[in-house]
Amino acid sequence: MIRRVAIIGLGTMGPGMAARLARGGIEVAAYDIAPDAIERARAMLAAADSVLDNLEIASERTGSVRLTDKLEDAVADADLVIENVPEKEEIKADVYRKIEGLISPDTIVASDTSGIPITKLQAHISNPARMVGMHWSNPPHIIPMIEVISGEQTAPETIDTIRDFIRSLGLLPVLLKKDVPGFVENRVLYALLREVVDLVERGVIEPEDIDTCVSWGIGYKLAVVGPMALLDMAGMDIYHSVSSFLNADLCDRKDVAPLVRDQIAAGKLGIKSGGGVYSYSPESIAELQRERARKLVAIRRILEGKD
Ligand SMILES: NC(=O)c1ccc[n+]([C@@H]2O[C@H](COP(=O)([O-])OP(=O)(O)OC[C@H]3O[C@@H](n4cnc5c(N)ncnc54)[C@H](O)[C@@H]3O)[C@@H](O)[C@H]2O)c1
Repeated sequence: MIRRVAIIGLGTMGPGMAARLARGGIEVAAYDIAPDAIERARAMLAAADSVLDNLEIASERTGSVRLTDKLEDAVADADLVIENVPEKEEIKADVYRKIEGLISPDTIVASDTSGIPITKLQAHISNPARMVGMHWSNPPHIIPMIEVISGEQTAPETIDTIRDFIRSLGLLPVLLKKDVPGFVENRVLYALLREVVDLVERGVIEPEDIDTCVSWGIGYKLAVVGPMALLDMAGMDIYHSVSSFLNADLCDRKDVAPLVRDQIAAGKLGIKSGGGVYSYSPESIAELQRERARKLVAIRRILEGKD
């Protein structure tokens, strides 16, 4: 039974995750190595809480979130540690080494890695049977799907415990039976991103138009009909006819597209640098985040039949 969770790393993902877990009655202790990240996390927790109020998810906060600047204080007594530090194997390995002597050998250690194989991460921890991938989707307090990834040495009981835990929070666990690079959500997303970047790069379509095309075409539909169900909806024969000529024409480049490399060289990293494909002012960023959260919440309520 998981009652106490430690979150290590309070950047983009940690605060929303902490807020959502607390709504499930969990006592969360959250730690970051950087004092300013802990400060930022306070505001992010408040923002996530107000979104969760709108979602009417366990509006009575039965759990709690405690921020701490001491690792041992965060992990002591935790039934589950969720490692949420930057996507670099050596940083993650360092965290596992540090918590090793602070937790019991049975404490489950989950990584929110977006793509480092769990089997690789297991090399850095004793008792690798208790390590599992727990890949949340951003924003973690709103998106209910969590990928659960078994590494080669993960014990079946660890998977069962995590799956049951996610379900008990009213969230949706998705089990990956193989530890494939990028897991499943990102493999599908990156297949899509490779194609859209290629279409823009080849001058087939403008960024605004491809965003409209994908969001209001397949994106809108996929929220209701998943891709495998879509095959049935379209018909296997139709998919066969189209894919027999189209697959050969789809982008299959192995490297990163020049469009992306050029943007990086120009310092245009996206929202975090004030511009990427589009331009952003500090005011427009705040408004965009509010508006996106509002729409995601509204869509989720409709899909769950609450409106
Ligand atoms: N950002 C996303 O959309 C997203 C989605 C799903 C999964 N993830 C994964 O979640 C993990 C975290 O991603 P993020 O986007 O929140 O990263 P981030 O860079 O925004 O935040 C990472 C935080 O970890 C802290 N940190 C660094 N070293 C630490 C240490 N030794 N101990 C404690 N804290 C430390 C940093 O100070 C920072 O606040 C990554 O593995 C990432 O791949 C990210």
